[in-house]
Amino acid sequence: MRHLLSTADLARDEAIGLLDSSEDMATTADRAHKKLPALRGLTIVNLFFEDSTRTRISFEVAEKRLSADVINFAAKGSSVSKGESLKDTAQTLTAMGVDAVVIRHGASGAAYQLANRGWIDVPVVNAGDGTHEHPTQALLDAYTIRKRVHGSSSRGKGLDGLRVTIVGDIAHSRVARSNAWLLTTLGAEVTMVAPPTLLPHARESFPVVMESDLDAVLATNPDAVMMLRIQKERMHHAFFPSEREFSQLWGLTAERFARLSERTLVMHPGPMNRGLEICSEAADSPQSTVIEQVANGVFVRMAVLYSVLTGSEA
Ligand code: CP
Repeated sequence: MRHLLSTADLARDEAIGLLDSSEDMATTADRAHKKLPALRGLTIVNLFFEDSTRTRISFEVAEKRLSADVINFAAKGSSVSKGESLKDTAQTLTAMGVDAVVIRHGASGAAYQLANRGWIDVPVVNAGDGTHEHPTQALLDAYTIRKRVHGSSSRGKGLDGLRVTIVGDIAHSRVARSNAWLLTTLGAEVTMVAPPTLLPHARESFPVVMESDLDAVLATNPDAVMMLRIQKERMHHAFFPSEREFSQLWGLTAERFARLSERTLVMHPGPMNRGLEICSEAADSPQSTVIEQVANGVFVRMAVLYSVLTGSEA
């Protein structure tokens, strides 16, 4: 794998290989010395044009665990504020001898441009581009589901026959898009639930079922329910009458959570709007994987970086 830009590019064997490699990386977490020498001597730049807590720090931890040298670039405080373009910024950084670029950008397609326009000649990992894709988030979500369901016998397995419901602001969600491709590639059945205004426009292009009645879908006892953040920063007009109504109809409220099977995993990519798309009873419950998702993100990103920089699995 040269770049990781989209989960749509991953074949099933490739995706399972990355999840298995993440399992190998996870074995380092309990050691007194967590570092591996795998990427010693290589330099990775984390190019963040958009805010992030989990993804940015998780990539940095993953890079340091693999002994890479790390440069953190935040657009705020850089020459981007003087008008420097993505192309010039990337070329300036790679001229200093960078071996791979991790990029988060507000524009859908920014990672593709960096990888495919010939501006730079190093591997590119998409850490979230606009409303398009967030492939490492989907990989860590798949890893988390597989680990909860199959435990220590996860290796080599997909998510065959599992039913995953993704709920909320689908229209603006790169997490939903990356999960739609990856989870179905791994054999899961995916249902997306949102108000009609927050379902994607080109519905037929997604390999998923789309619904608007959350209670009807939850009554089928899915294996996992993934609640999405309402992305107020991307909403330039009203997509639902009020937050109160959204929460009542499409939020995982305490009342809805109480009706959920105890087997159903409760997921959220974070950051959460508690009380809007998810209640604290659900987010902090034993069914919740929110903190596990964050922890697993480090292992998955170690596996992805190892793969793009060495061309092999761990
Ligand atoms: N899930 C996620 O991408 O979170 P951050 O925006 O904090 O990186």
